[in-house]
Amino acid sequence: MALKIAVVAGDGIGPEVIAEGCTLVRDVDRALDLSLSFDHKDWGAERWLKEGVGMPKGALEELARDYAAIYFGALGDPRIPDMAHGREILLGMRQGLDLYANFRPCKCLHERLSPLKGKGPAEIDMLVFRENTEDLYVALGGTFKQGTADEVAQDVSINTRKGVERILRHGFDTARARPRHDGMKKLTMTDKHNAVRFGGGLWKRTFDQLKGDYPDVTAEHLYVDVLAMEMVRKPERFHVVVANNLFGDILTDLGAALMGGLGLAASGNVHPGKIGMFEPVHGSAPDIAGKGVANPLAAFWTASLMLEFLATKDAALAPRLLRGARAIDAAVTACVDVGPRTPDLGGAARTQDVGAFVREHVGRALAA
Ligand code: NAD
Ligand code: IPM
Ligand code: MN
Repeated sequence: MALKIAVVAGDGIGPEVIAEGCTLVRDVDRALDLSLSFDHKDWGAERWLKEGVGMPKGALEELARDYAAIYFGALGDPRIPDMAHGREILLGMRQGLDLYANFRPCKCLHERLSPLKGKGPAEIDMLVFRENTEDLYVALGGTFKQGTADEVAQDVSINTRKGVERILRHGFDTARARPRHDGMKKLTMTDKHNAVRFGGGLWKRTFDQLKGDYPDVTAEHLYVDVLAMEMVRKPERFHVVVANNLFGDILTDLGAALMGGLGLAASGNVHPGKIGMFEPVHGSAPDIAGKGVANPLAAFWTASLMLEFLATKDAALAPRLLRGARAIDAAVTACVDVGPRTPDLGGAARTQDVGAFVREHVGRALAA
């Protein structure tokens, strides 16, 4: 049975980078005879503004039933300042499909991309796991006396034992199965339990209980403020980092900066055994949308993560899917080394120039 991919390009630069990404994946599909199939979903700002629909009724059930993966671009439109459609579609998929593990590799591909003196690919190579279904993202709360001088606003952070345990276990299992390039197996759990007593306390107690199950993995705890500092000061001390939803969001934009910017950072949203959703870390970038200069490398790397994930769904296709993923990785690395660069990386290339270079590189690798 063909592996079905739902493509949600979204808004702004989303469609620009996902178009390049789809062309690339179709090339890989043809070269390796993967029989992937793609369905494009028009979910995003235009439809929201026209019909008031974010995700159509029954869409989550359809995704869960009929698709192996979702390839997602970005949402965000200046005409929808409260991002109501984004919450319905993006958070709707993450939470509605229970994709609790948002993994975001923070890996510097070339010395030149690093903003840190003396730190490059050997030092900057961590994997952040962001809890993806709880915390302040659950939209529980409200306002009271809105618009008056006495206004009160409350957002509730939800942390459940089940939610915290499963993301920590996922992080520990990954640290064990996929050591850092230098062999390090380490999990850094971050929270703020010195100030945020109840949720933070649950994270810390759960972490302390679980770490005994992973004697081969070095387990450390760092408060999130110190972690942010250490990511800049000494990134080489990190392998797997696990954080709650909001801290993970913030840390992974910092992580993207260490890699060379949001134009490179990729991510996956998974729950083992279920559909996976794959998206660049960046947003719709309204400041450059429509100009044809968005960096598509994050979307390409994201496609590679998706192929790697699809390999877990189909044992017969797995070797070819992994070969395709490695070919994309190698082409992305070659591109930052010797290929065309978009303005965010200091070049003058256009999105399509980068796409053409990467496709050619992948094509040659897969023909060999
Ligand atoms: P952003 O990530 O869209 O952009 C931040 C900066 O990085 C901008 O200067 C942008 O030009 C640059 N940038 C981002 N991706 C780039 C790329 N591929 N190539 C070159 N430059 C790139 O963040 P923002 O400006 O805070 O948000 C814009 C909109 O996107 C908002 O509506 C926000 O809510 C939304 N957003 C959506 C997602 C998502 O869909 N996953 C993620 C983040 C932000
Ligand atoms: C991300 C984004 C989203 C988040 C926004 C757009 C809701 O910043 O995917 O990192 O906070 O998760
Ligand atoms: Mn973010």
